[in-house]
Amino acid sequence: MKWRVLCQAALLLLVAGFGANQLDERLQALFSVDHITYRQLAGPQWDVKAAPCAQTAAILKQKFTYLGQGVQSYAFLSEDGRYVLKFIKHQRQSSPLWHRMCALVPRVAARAREFKERREGQLRETYRSWKLAYEELPDAAGLVYLHLNSTDGALGATKLVRRDGVGISVQLDRIPFLIQQRAEELRKVLRRLVAREQIPEACQLLDQLVDLLLSDYRRGVADRDQFLMRNTGLCGDRLIHMDVGAFVRNTGARDPAVYLQDLFCKGVRTGRWLATCHPALERHMEERVQREIGPSYAQLHYFERCQICHEPE
Ligand SMILES: Nc1ncnc2c1ncn2[C@@H]1O[C@H](COP(=O)(O)OP(=O)(O)O)[C@@H](O)[C@H]1O
Ligand SMILES: [Mg+2]
Repeated sequence: MKWRVLCQAALLLLVAGFGANQLDERLQALFSVDHITYRQLAGPQWDVKAAPCAQTAAILKQKFTYLGQGVQSYAFLSEDGRYVLKFIKHQRQSSPLWHRMCALVPRVAARAREFKERREGQLRETYRSWKLAYEELPDAAGLVYLHLNSTDGALGATKLVRRDGVGISVQLDRIPFLIQQRAEELRKVLRRLVAREQIPEACQLLDQLVDLLLSDYRRGVADRDQFLMRNTGLCGDRLIHMDVGAFVRNTGARDPAVYLQDLFCKGVRTGRWLATCHPALERHMEERVQREIGPSYAQLHYFERCQICHEPE
């Protein structure tokens, strides 16, 4: 009897949690301008060496329709289907309601301060990563334009269409955003190739993925992203980093002892997903990473998180 009540309560909580989550996702997808303008960073460290050119202006003349969102950003797709306009999700910065409701309670106030500092740190990390990607890996990330510090009216307004079809106008000069080539998530492309039994083509893409990572390391950059299958995408016939929010700069990443360890971990992690897709893909990835690493492969250890951090400035 007791167990039945407990099971029912657990089920109820699960359903309520799932419902709240769905509602939250729906509300977020509805999107308001506040979501991307709540808090910005400013300062010379965020100056980007890029002036809007004729190509940028032509792209921004188009209407952009809601495409998707992750933890850090919203993406909107251009009318011609070739470009993505990406904004930082600033509502992540606003503190939970209970922090504001209980602001007079010292423990809650301390929690709220910690929360604010943590979120500001995360926002700085996102700015840093976007800038690094734009300056060091524009091709590998398919980046066309990056805007961080406010500008003086050169960009004007662009029209966004929310998921519910409502159009809103956004003044771009005061908002951090980037323009990126549109890509298709690697996991979707791989699933499609497997469904068509095009295993050699799928293996070629995995080789491209390893080549992409190796070329980042050579430039002294590492991607701390844990979800390469969903955050890397196929753009035409080449793979690009779709998610540019987790890059770190570290010249140490050029050292084989450092990058091969990171490659090993990324190989193991992607291997888990590949095993669910097709065993030949998991085998191919493992063999390719083993070839890159050589005899020391068997001595390496797996870490859940990327061990390469920003080098101190
Ligand atoms: N270049 C792109 N082409 C197509 N879709 C994209 C692109 N960039 C992002 N998206 C879509 O937007 C979502 C969020 O973008 P992403 O850059 O991964 O941000 P986050 O850091 O929030 O995960 C992605 O999961 C994907 O659906
Ligand atoms: Mg992502």
